[in-house]
Amino acid sequence: MPPRLPFGQVRNLLLQGHVIRRMSSQPKVYVTRPDVDDSGLELLRKSCQVTTWHETNPVTRSELIREVAGKDALYCALTDKVDKEVLDSAGPQLKCVATISVGYDHIDVEECRKRGIRVGFTPDVLTDATAELTLALLLATNRRLFEANKQVYNGGWKSWAPMWMCGQGLKGSRVGLLGFGRIGQEIAARIVPFKPTEITYTTRSLRPKEAAAVNARHVDFDEMLRESDFIVVCCALTPETKEIFNAAAFQKMKPNCILINTARGGVVDQKALYEALKTKRILAAGLDVTTPEPLPLDDPLLKLDNVVILPHIGSADIETRKEMSRITARNILAALAGDKMEAEVKL
Ligand code: GLV
Repeated sequence: MPPRLPFGQVRNLLLQGHVIRRMSSQPKVYVTRPDVDDSGLELLRKSCQVTTWHETNPVTRSELIREVAGKDALYCALTDKVDKEVLDSAGPQLKCVATISVGYDHIDVEECRKRGIRVGFTPDVLTDATAELTLALLLATNRRLFEANKQVYNGGWKSWAPMWMCGQGLKGSRVGLLGFGRIGQEIAARIVPFKPTEITYTTRSLRPKEAAAVNARHVDFDEMLRESDFIVVCCALTPETKEIFNAAAFQKMKPNCILINTARGGVVDQKALYEALKTKRILAAGLDVTTPEPLPLDDPLLKLDNVVILPHIGSADIETRKEMSRITARNILAALAGDKMEAEVKL
């Protein structure tokens, strides 16, 4: 006869069995960051078995490939390349890839479509935060805020001087937007009170209703390059927009033009931008996005005075990021349940 176990031990074993059974029947989700707001992770933990990468920097490629194996959903960030290799490693049970970003150029969406994997993202919620940051970057660049601030600390500020640290105002200027989606429209609305002469936009399709709201005129890319005093990049990175700002484009721009990019670094040929800034082909640039990210400390761009660079903080507003965490979680839960997702990429 086998030895009798004390009652407490039997109860613990039964409970463990119950937990293990429950866990094994729960969908498995891999989260590539431990530091997304916990409110999103809590939503997932209620009904899923959640595993997260443990460091507060992007998951390594090898770890992602190993950890995604056997998962039902992947919660990722714009720093994670989700390509065929990752999807192969995940296996055929993977139902959803949800990114905590509006951009999804890091995900091979065509491969997801072929495999019936649904893709979630976080548009809308970050529109205002990103438009606000774009304006902050524009104003920091055109009014030379960082350059001027440095003078306070390095002794360059000798006295008030009539033409010292002068910038180029928005008033009376022509502002061109490459891209006129949700973020572009909100940027335009925030520029209007600064009294530009004209706002123009370049997109594949016309958006007359949205354009009328900010009195914007549709122009082709060439006209935008030739006529603008400011160009704001707020389009997605696609094969069509990749390095659209190249040496030829900079040649067409006005020498007083200021380029602002809060979309993706890949839209700009960075070597050509460096040349354009160094040789004063254009006046200045404000970049929230670069290639690569982070920009190496010895990158030549960092030696120029006429460029302001931020570390990709477009949507970095506390409440926005918290809600992005929850939307990503809700996208996953909806996909796992076969329901409509809050924000799904049309594949
Ligand atoms: C930020 O760049 C985003 O895509 O959300």
